[in-house]
Amino acid sequence: MEGVTEACFRDLLLERNAAEHLGGTFTEFARVVEIPLSRRVLRAHLGPSSTARPVGLQLMGANLAALAETARRAEEVGAPLVDVNFGCPAKGALRGSAGSAVLSDPARLERILRAVGGALERAPLTAKIRAGVDDDSLLCELARAAQEGGAAMLTVHCRTRREGYRPEVDWSRIARAVGSVDIPVCGNGGVRAHADLRRMREETGCALVMVGQAALANPWIFSGARVDATEAARFLTAYAESLRVRYAARESRIAGRLKQLLRCWEAGDLTGGEPASWLGERDPARLLERLRALARE
Ligand SMILES: Cc1cc2nc3c(=O)[nH]c(=O)nc-3n(C[C@H](O)[C@H](O)[C@H](O)COP(=O)(O)O)c2cc1C
Repeated sequence: MEGVTEACFRDLLLERNAAEHLGGTFTEFARVVEIPLSRRVLRAHLGPSSTARPVGLQLMGANLAALAETARRAEEVGAPLVDVNFGCPAKGALRGSAGSAVLSDPARLERILRAVGGALERAPLTAKIRAGVDDDSLLCELARAAQEGGAAMLTVHCRTRREGYRPEVDWSRIARAVGSVDIPVCGNGGVRAHADLRRMREETGCALVMVGQAALANPWIFSGARVDATEAARFLTAYAESLRVRYAARESRIAGRLKQLLRCWEAGDLTGGEPASWLGERDPARLLERLRALARE
């Protein structure tokens, strides 16, 4: 997820959840505009590969030539799979006719995937869609277009663009997508607890499940492990340390990242239901020290 799941966070998720529970992760989307992204930028998105589990590189764009060349370079720098984002509702994506802007035109979605897939020699191509723009009337057509375009797996975020990130979700849309294609479908949208992972598979027939926001509240959602406040604080202090080492991040930036997580954090009841006491901490050093003290307990 953009602005959150960079390499430090992803690595910690992979470390804390065994492969049988968390098979892999994706990068935040890498936006491709007029020119292909450089290998340096792509390496930065992928991060050092510290686990054997795949970190799929996600691209978003509308320029076929630039996307294709970026995909070729992504494979060259070791991306184990390349995903194309057709779900992003951000204005920037829409202005560039990328992300969810493509959902109104299944034929264009197919062309984009063909262009990206044509540039890949080994890495599988995958795609991520929303259920549609304003409604889900094109969902099955979009799923088939992804398959025809060469996607080896399709992630379906079951909300439409209009629905944004609203809490109510309709998983029957995932089931419809599953019924429309032969490739594996990864269901996404509205998973809140560990038990939902199995429930989504049972109710929709999807082969895989992707968790978004709930993983920020509880990084152990994949394994279902119940952690205490000490363990939860250890995750956050390890995250802080990793940001410091990898990006030479200053305390103020680290505290900003921590607060982003603490705003929705649930694991270990670390905030005791009172996130305000943490979010109101103005001194970054004090915020970090409070977490370290908890982590030492
Ligand atoms: C802050 C934020 C950033 C996101 N960035 C991305 C992204 O870069 N690529 C992507 O495919 N989805 C992105 N998403 C969407 C999530 O991956 C996911 O599809 C969506 O949140 C629905 O799943 P959930 O209900 O489990 O959160 C983002 C969502 C949020 C809230």
